[in-house]
Amino acid sequence: MQRYHLTIAGGGATYTPGIVNSILNASDVLPLRKLVLLDTDAERVATMGGFIRLLLKEKAPTVELLVTTDRRQAFTGMDFLFAQIRSGGLPMRALDEQIPLRHGVVGQETCGPGGFAFALRSIPDMLAIGEDVRRYAPNAWILNYSNPAAILADAWHKRFPELKSLFICDMPIVIELLVAATLGQRHGELAFEYVGLNHFGWWRHIWDPQGQDLLPQLRAHLLSDKPLTLFEDEHVNADWIPTFERLRKSMGLFPEFLSNTYLQYYLFGEEMVGHEDPHYTRANRVMDTREKEVFAECRRCIAAGSVADSFLSAGVHGDFIVDHARAILTNRPFRTTVNVPNRGLVAGLPEDAIVEVHGQVTAHGVEAFGVGPLPHFQRALMVQQNAYEQLTVEAALEGSYAKALQALTLNRTVPSADVAKALLDDLLEANRDYWPPLR
Ligand code: G6P
Ligand code: MN
Repeated sequence: MQRYHLTIAGGGATYTPGIVNSILNASDVLPLRKLVLLDTDAERVATMGGFIRLLLKEKAPTVELLVTTDRRQAFTGMDFLFAQIRSGGLPMRALDEQIPLRHGVVGQETCGPGGFAFALRSIPDMLAIGEDVRRYAPNAWILNYSNPAAILADAWHKRFPELKSLFICDMPIVIELLVAATLGQRHGELAFEYVGLNHFGWWRHIWDPQGQDLLPQLRAHLLSDKPLTLFEDEHVNADWIPTFERLRKSMGLFPEFLSNTYLQYYLFGEEMVGHEDPHYTRANRVMDTREKEVFAECRRCIAAGSVADSFLSAGVHGDFIVDHARAILTNRPFRTTVNVPNRGLVAGLPEDAIVEVHGQVTAHGVEAFGVGPLPHFQRALMVQQNAYEQLTVEAALEGSYAKALQALTLNRTVPSADVAKALLDDLLEANRDYWPPLR
């Protein structure tokens, strides 16, 4: 049986143990020959590598492990690249969240000015990865979780149209699982229709196996304050629950659709700012919790010489990315949400906009499902957000201050061009070591 060389870019991330466990659970279709943890942070990835080495020793002793900061080594001979990079790390995420809040604007890692700053750091890094994939492993499949996903997909698809890639996000699947559990249904038996951009979309239908649309039932459930059925996942924690609870509010205001949770930042900006402490944001919380706990656990296991009793195990996040690889390898269709160039899928949006819709993944890649014309409200929001996304890519690639300013001014979270300029100048200062120069 063929065995595969899989590389994880951002291999030092806290998500790595979950992803590797999911890969090992799929060894019937995705047996590994070689696993590479690639990271720019040698120390972090060495600790993670120590944990993964023990995991492989106990569960898959024939797999060769390479821990490296060198892309040529990591990519040569590679079949799959799972990309989950975070350019600038969590300390820069904290600034992405805190700087906008100081201006009274939403502070979030992927939405608004924070997402913009993150994009300007990540685009050059993603494109450097793409150049080296093209050089060393042009036939590899790239499955990407890195953020901001739509903006990175835009830059990527324009530069590397020939590479085999899928840009995915786990928020839609998490929401769909939550919806299914709340309705007392099995997720696999429901057929969802979703349309939007990444972290910016809506479910229009949720069909049961008899073809009945369950959206009205879900609406009634949410609006009558009945409890949501949460499930075991890294998202089900104190920081995320208010976000899921806020689905009731968007449902009440816009009852035709179930909104993606991330729309809270665009629709309820003041409320979101009001809940935040500009000195201690989600990034700080992640650094004080997940980051510390995962690395402490890695070190504990390394000292004990075993991962046998470790809590670092497979979950929705790891299983979801592996399900895409499984579909590619088995040619068994997997229905999922993907971020792909529009090309007529959504009427009224540019052909090259990266849209997030359902599609079917097989060995031939993704076949995305078009959704026909949209109501003014959704279409206009998407056109505006997509223009922001494309201007962000152009600002990064052309080094254009003018386009950066236009992008931020267009973003719905930013109230005026004056605020956009003040924000841009502060973000520029904070990102001097990361952004391409803007003129
Ligand atoms: C969801 C989103 C990801 C995002 C993550 C942040 O999974 O789909 O794109 O990176 O949430 O979660 P965190 O726990 O780091 O705030
Ligand atoms: Mn996401």
